[in-house]
Amino acid sequence: MNNLLMDVENEVAVITINRPKALNALNKETLEELDQCLGDIEKRKDIKVVILTGSGEKSFVAGADISEMVGENAAEGQARGMLAYRAFKKLEDMPQVSIAAVNGFALGGGCEIAMACDIRVAAENAKFGQPEVNLGTMPGFGGTQRLPRLVGKGRAKELIFTTDMIDAQEAYRIGLANKVVPQAELIKYCKEMAAKIISKGSFAVSMAKKAINSGLDMDLSNGLVMEAVLFGLTFATADKKEGMSAFLEKRPAKLTDF
Ligand code: CAA
Repeated sequence: MNNLLMDVENEVAVITINRPKALNALNKETLEELDQCLGDIEKRKDIKVVILTGSGEKSFVAGADISEMVGENAAEGQARGMLAYRAFKKLEDMPQVSIAAVNGFALGGGCEIAMACDIRVAAENAKFGQPEVNLGTMPGFGGTQRLPRLVGKGRAKELIFTTDMIDAQEAYRIGLANKVVPQAELIKYCKEMAAKIISKGSFAVSMAKKAINSGLDMDLSNGLVMEAVLFGLTFATADKKEGMSAFLEKRPAKLTDF
């Protein structure tokens, strides 16, 4: 991989988007590598949490690569959007939990890839925004769909129409960031959160993720039925037997696997 670094330790994969000279902007090759890398990870049982970050201290991801897009025609633009759709959908749908460690600018495609993660932890210097209309285009990697689902229609429209950048505290206030931490503690904090999630029943966590994601695309009634079905499915696991027995026997549970 030319544009990604990956380090796996204690069942946590840290993926670093590594194009610091372009503030980690997502060019086509990086999107293809992400698609490939996430496709591999979703099949691995030895990785339970993915932390996604950008290299350096200034930028998480400064957007899609403008220098590549400037000469593209409509079909090429659409193909680029679909490539990002496939890669980001893997992030969203994988059984593993994904945490965006937002270490600086998360603009355009950067804000959009952070929103495809399950959880966003922002460093104090993080800046979020959807500046695409400044460029005569619009969010194309999920911004018009995931942003309103996270912060509401009115706030999403304001951010996209004005292109105003917001800082980490404002992102936290509106629900775009789950937590704000000092930059120096960002990865440590994300790894601690990962360890906490890994200590739970991984299959149960992945089913809860599926229920939340799928439920948001359904009406409430169907969502509730789907939840009951997945709840029932967890009853087939050793983790459920162990978790409930441990509670009744007043001992810590040893929960394990997918
Ligand atoms: N694409 C390509 N290159 C980028 C880039 C991007 N999105 N963002 C930054 N860079 C490059 C700059 O061109 C510059 O390269 P050179 O040194 O070769 O000139 C380098 O990264 C450093 O950037 P700046 O000198 O601009 O750094 P700065 O500190 O002055 O400003 C910034 C930082 C505010 C993030 C500014 O770089 C910026 O506004 N970047 C573009 C942000 C943007 O518009 N993102 C949306 C892209 S479109 C999109 O993402 C569509 C979509 O929905 C998928």
